[in-house]
Amino acid sequence: MQVTKPNILEGVLVSIFGEKGPDPISWYPVNLDNMMLTEVSIKAVSILAGETGILPEHLSVLPLPKFHMTALIYAFDIVDVQARGGAVVATLSVLFNENYTPFVYKCIEELENKIKPMSDLAEPIKNQQDITEFIEDLFNQLKGYVETCQRDEITRYQIEAEVKKTYSQTFKFKVIVIGDPSVGKTTLLLRFVDKAFRELYIPTVGVQVSLKSVEYDDTLIKFNLWDIAGQESYRKVRNNFYMGSNAILIVYDINNPKTFRNVKNWYQDAIIALGEIIPGFLVGNKVDLPRQVDKYDGKSLADKIKLEFIETSAKTGENVDYIFQKLAEILIKNE
Ligand code: GTP
Repeated sequence: MQVTKPNILEGVLVSIFGEKGPDPISWYPVNLDNMMLTEVSIKAVSILAGETGILPEHLSVLPLPKFHMTALIYAFDIVDVQARGGAVVATLSVLFNENYTPFVYKCIEELENKIKPMSDLAEPIKNQQDITEFIEDLFNQLKGYVETCQRDEITRYQIEAEVKKTYSQTFKFKVIVIGDPSVGKTTLLLRFVDKAFRELYIPTVGVQVSLKSVEYDDTLIKFNLWDIAGQESYRKVRNNFYMGSNAILIVYDINNPKTFRNVKNWYQDAIIALGEIIPGFLVGNKVDLPRQVDKYDGKSLADKIKLEFIETSAKTGENVDYIFQKLAEILIKNE
């Protein structure tokens, strides 16, 4: 039986938000499902209606679980004197198979370099010209790029597979990662899971889950890592994500005292939702930047809330793997 390889890249879609609401105007491949095109166009609005009301400068990542996809959204203005307010907004959505979300994060800077020049389409869109050719061209460019990246990944996985061992036991643990926006939660996990770093700040939408295994003696520990959005707007949904967690990481930025002051709130938020104290770490991230939170203060707060303490840099990788090795040790001893 022949097994068909799933597509990493599922499609590219351009939508505009005129007075009649979101409207998909051009897409590739041409056979993309109509209902999906409309829903993605509508969802892309949620990105535009962000907390600041200003168009995000960078790409936004939007999970689309219903369609098993993740979209990268880029929004740009179309200056149109006839429109109300003198402009309409267009969004370009690049649709990926959701299984490749970590891969999307890893390559996001390169993807952004390829996607952003598409704001040049503003003029032809305004003049109602057919832009399918440009969309097809972008699709093919991105497809070529992701396939090359994936070949490199496969080589890496093959090397890992060759050294695969058999283990006496396997455990699965859910770890939640919480803390103020922009402290580096996603970046820490990206560093741990994929050994990568990205300079761009792309706020997490809701939650992103990734998987990574570590060895402890002859035991395999599979971590299910829940990266929970720090933005205030996700406060209500957050409690649902805490359920069933085995360990917790509360992250602050040692360069930003406000994020440290908020640790107590995050701790309380989690403990109330969980109904119990679970093991974990208080993590002071960004040690590669100038310090504004004393290490001693971090350690004494960790002691108070009964968490381990560590300072890390997701940029240099300092102490990132240590967290998960130590967590594995603690969790196995508790079993
Ligand atoms: P939310 O998704 O809003 O909750 O934010 P987050 O905590 O997941 O932050 P994210 O990982 O997106 O990082 C925010 C910014 O900090 C990005 O620009 C990262 O490149 C940067 N960053 C993260 N960790 C480090 C670090 O250790 N050192 C430095 N210098 N920058 C970092």
